[in-house]
Amino acid sequence: MSVKIPNLLFIFGTRPEAIKLAPLIKEFAGRKGFVTKICVTAQHREMLDQVLEFFELAPEYDLNIMKRGQSLFDVTVDGLRALEKVFDEANPDLVFVQGDTTTSFIGALAAYYKKIPVAHIEAGLRSGNKYSPFPEEMNRVLASHLSDYHFTPTRRSVGNLEKENIRNHLYKVGNTVIDALFLGLDLIRNKGEEAYQNHFPMIRDDRKIVLVTGHRRESFGGPFEDICNAIRIVAEEYPEVDFIYPVHLNPNVQEPVMRLLKGLKNVHLIAPLDYPYFIWLMSKSYIVLTDSGGLQEEAPSLGKPVLVMRQLTERQEGVDAGTAKLVGSDRDKIITELKTLLDDKSAYESMAKAVNPYGDGTTSKQIADIVESIFRKK
Ligand code: UD1
Ligand code: UDP
Repeated sequence: MSVKIPNLLFIFGTRPEAIKLAPLIKEFAGRKGFVTKICVTAQHREMLDQVLEFFELAPEYDLNIMKRGQSLFDVTVDGLRALEKVFDEANPDLVFVQGDTTTSFIGALAAYYKKIPVAHIEAGLRSGNKYSPFPEEMNRVLASHLSDYHFTPTRRSVGNLEKENIRNHLYKVGNTVIDALFLGLDLIRNKGEEAYQNHFPMIRDDRKIVLVTGHRRESFGGPFEDICNAIRIVAEEYPEVDFIYPVHLNPNVQEPVMRLLKGLKNVHLIAPLDYPYFIWLMSKSYIVLTDSGGLQEEAPSLGKPVLVMRQLTERQEGVDAGTAKLVGSDRDKIITELKTLLDDKSAYESMAKAVNPYGDGTTSKQIADIVESIFRKK
C-alpha cells in the first residue's frame, strides 16, 4: 500500500513573514517525507522579493496582488479570491501561516473554508487592544481561532491563548526570527565584513548610529509627523550622531519622512535593505528606534537598546528584560529617551544587554519534529 506524502503549503505575503518562514521552509525542504510548496500573495512586492532572493525561495504560486497605496479591503478581497484557486490546485494537507498580517489572516480563513488544517507560526501574541497595532491585533486573534496547531514563541504567548480557551496543540518553541538571524549572521561571517562595510559609506567607527524604522498604520498622519520631528530635533542637536533610516515603501510613510527629514546632513534616508545588510547595520548601531515587531525581537539578541514607538506592545518580553522601552509617538518622550541613551552611559549600559527571550535558533527544527510526529500519528 502506498502512503501519501504530506503536502505542506506555506502562505505568506510580506517581508517579515518571508524572513520568519524561510528557515522553516528550508528545514522541511531538507527532510524527506514532505512535499513543500510556497504560495505568496505578494501583498508586498519589492520588499518580499528581496527576501525570496536572499533565502533562495521559489514560490509555486505568486498571486501578485500588491497595488500602490492598497487598502485593507484590497488585500483581503484580492488575496482571498486568488487563494481559492490555489487551494483547488495545490490540495494541501497542512497550511502554514505566520504572524499577524492580512495575508496571515486570509491564508488561515481560506484554509478553514476548504477544511484544511492550519499551523500558525508565532501564535499567541496579544496587545489586548484591537486597534493597536491595527489591524494586526485582530488579524492574529482571528488567525488563532481559525488554526489547529499553534506554535508560540514564549510562555506568555501560551498563556494568552489559554485565556481565549485555545488549549489543544499549543507548542512553545521560540520564534523562527532568531533562526533567521543566526542564518544571516553566519552568512555575514562567511562573506566577510568588508562587503558590508563598503555598502554603507556613511558609517564611521567614531560616530554613533541610531537605526530607525517605522511603518505602523495607527501612526499614519499626525503621529508620524511627531516621530519625524523628534528625529529631526535630536539629529540637529547631535550632529556627531548618524541616523540611518531605511524607509518603508508604504506611501503613507515615504511622504512625511521625505518631507520632514530629507536634506539633514546626519539623517541618511535609504531604500529598504536586503536582510543581511539590515542585520549587519543593526549590529553596528548604538540605538534602535522602531515600531517594527521583528526588530523588537532581533535587537535584544544583539544587545541593542530599543525605543519602541508604540503605546502598547505584544512583545512585552523585551520590555520585561529591560532591553526595550515604550515611547509611543510622543515627540517629547522620544526626544527625552533618545537623549538619555546618548548622554547617560549607565542608562545605556542597563539596557544594552544581550538577551534572547524569543528563542535559541532551534525553533524551525522543533516545529518540523512536531509536524512529523503529528503526521506519524495520522
Ligand atoms: C504590512 C502589514 C503589517 C506588517 C508590514 C511589514 C497588513 C495590513 N500590514 O504593512 O502587518 O507589519 O507589512 O512591513 O497586513 N509597498 C511597496 N512595495 C513593497 C511593499 C509595500 O510599494 O514591497 C507599498 C505599496 O504602495 C503598498 C503599501 O506599501 O500598497 C502598503 O503595503 P501593505 O502590505 O498594505 O501594508 P504595510 O504597511 O506594508
Ligand atoms: N528588515 C529588512 N530590511 C529593512 C528593514 C527591516 O530586512 O530595510 C527586516 C528586519 O530585520 C526584520 C523585518 O524586516 O526581520 C521586520 O519587518 P517590518 O518592520 O517591515 O515588519 P514587522 O516586523 O513590524 O511586521
